[in-house]
Amino acid sequence: MKGLILSGGKGTRLRPLTFTRAKQLIPIANKPNLFYVVEDLLRSGIREIGVIISPETGAEIRQALGPQSGFDASFTFITQDEPRGLAHAVKTARGFLGQDAFVMYLGDNLLSGGIARLVEDFRSGQSDANVLLTAVDDPRQFGVAVLDEQGRVTRLVEKPKEPPSNLALVGVYLFKSVIHDVIETLKPSWRNEYEITDAIQGLIDRGLNVRSTRVHGWWKDTGKPEDLLDANRLILSQVRRQVPSEYEKADIAGEVVVEEGVNISNSLIRGPAHIARGAVLQDAYVGPYTSIGPEAQVIHSEVEYSIVFGEAKLLHLPCRLDASVIGQGVVVDGCGDGRRKHTLQLVLGDHSQVKI
Ligand code: G1P
Repeated sequence: MKGLILSGGKGTRLRPLTFTRAKQLIPIANKPNLFYVVEDLLRSGIREIGVIISPETGAEIRQALGPQSGFDASFTFITQDEPRGLAHAVKTARGFLGQDAFVMYLGDNLLSGGIARLVEDFRSGQSDANVLLTAVDDPRQFGVAVLDEQGRVTRLVEKPKEPPSNLALVGVYLFKSVIHDVIETLKPSWRNEYEITDAIQGLIDRGLNVRSTRVHGWWKDTGKPEDLLDANRLILSQVRRQVPSEYEKADIAGEVVVEEGVNISNSLIRGPAHIARGAVLQDAYVGPYTSIGPEAQVIHSEVEYSIVFGEAKLLHLPCRLDASVIGQGVVVDGCGDGRRKHTLQLVLGDHSQVKI
């Protein structure tokens, strides 16, 4: 089986972060979202991986998956000129996929349980497609599935105004090559995209075997800033304490990862948290569910439930930073008047500068 990761798109809902970075490369617990996806495919025994890229961010994705990434995988990069839908992405990858069965995995999705079992079952089973489903509060934002009493998928609708169920299609799909025949017959949808839901509906209409599997554990589509923070929380809640012995005297409570070359002085870290290499924490408080990126600095400041990208600086903040996403190289300088009464909430793009 092959893998097909969708790593294009414009990431408009994540601006300004995505003005300067592909959304799939936004770090979650200091690792790009895309890397979790690659690791999940590798764990499932899938090493031949096609990566759909866009003209805008393709170079960055290629670079990130280059030899230095150390993945034992063969990547084929396929440019999709315009984001014309998931089925269009499959069509664009036709040459790479050939007659093989494949897993399509959206590069901004995260699944706690992984897909290894699912891939194994699909390999040995008779179904033509298997979709992952999960119950959601607002199905109108997703593709929605209707099942019969035996759990077979009978109908799929993309972003329905009146959802026929609360079962959303998660961004992971397993297909046999027959999907290509259906995609050839598709017409664009109301949003002018070639929808993968329509393609799967086409399989059902032809009487083919479309199965569904419920997600075990959590699923996250990191499409919006609050999703990034939630994904960061979920990943961090799985980390185990890893603190080099030189820091054992520092005030570090709970499940905290401290990488090499971190400089900690007079600071308190309460896990779960992840502190990347070269970060500087001085007179700092780093609270639960926080990731501090490589070479970032937290000086005389407090931060929790936040993602701080590499080389960002939080300096002398007058109050605790909470539920914030701080882009690469951003400087937030509170100019230090010593007050710490209020809470700030910020979503800042790379290289922003804020004086408070
Ligand atoms: C796509 C699919 C949708 C699915 C969702 C999962 O939506 O079209 O069926 O539920 O991914 O993330 P899009 O990201 O194109 O809005």
